[in-house]
Amino acid sequence: MKKLWVGTNWKMTKTTEEGIQYFNELNELTKKIDDRIQLFFIPSFTSLYPIEKLTRNTRFNIGAQNMHWEERGAFTGEVSVLHLKEIQVDLVELGHSERRQYFNENDEQLNLKVKLALKHGIKPLLCIGENIIQKNNNETELVLRRQLSIALQDIPKEQLQHVLVAYEPIWAIGEEGIEAAPHYVHETHKLIKLIMQQQFGIEMPLLFGGSVNVGNFKEYLNCHAVDGLFIGRAAWDLRSFAIILNDIQEMLSNDKN
Ligand code: PGA
Repeated sequence: MKKLWVGTNWKMTKTTEEGIQYFNELNELTKKIDDRIQLFFIPSFTSLYPIEKLTRNTRFNIGAQNMHWEERGAFTGEVSVLHLKEIQVDLVELGHSERRQYFNENDEQLNLKVKLALKHGIKPLLCIGENIIQKNNNETELVLRRQLSIALQDIPKEQLQHVLVAYEPIWAIGEEGIEAAPHYVHETHKLIKLIMQQQFGIEMPLLFGGSVNVGNFKEYLNCHAVDGLFIGRAAWDLRSFAIILNDIQEMLSNDKN
């Protein structure tokens, strides 16, 4: 049975104190959750060190929201893969649309970052997705092909198997986001898996993100090409996250495979 990845990026929200409280409560809530669910969360840089220590010997993976493409150098304000490795971070989120939009991140830089993370044994979680104009112009496939081919170019297959990809259509993310129709998510996930096969000869786990909430997550998961959920707001509030996790647990219990 494949793993189901379920996690959240805190963006610029929780303080360390709030994060520790959140983690302690979430840890309690998930004590009995199926091993097939791989839980992860991605705090801000300042919370990573204290929270990583708490997550050791738990079932949680912990990630960073970004890192630089060089190992070291004169890059004021940046965080290196070596810093992340030193504190035993499991994964690093790369290319979230907010980083692409506000910090001009591009796929060439992401390619360097993915390679560097892999070199140091940190799992890259690469975010891809089209904006609303591209969607309306029927350019979704083109955009996704381009993002994947550049961000993952020249990476051997054995390395690619350690990469996670999150499909996050930009128009579905955040307060202003429009919830994606389940059919659209399923079709696009199947397409991305096909592109992965064609371009790399391998399928990487593919998570869906963008306004995932208690009302829609079941339908999103109801497709074999959806390997997990990358949740923002609905996971920051533990009341809604608990409902989502309990229901996933129930879905898995009914699934004998
Ligand atoms: P959201 O955020 O669930 O709040 O839309 C998703 C994301 O940005 O990854």
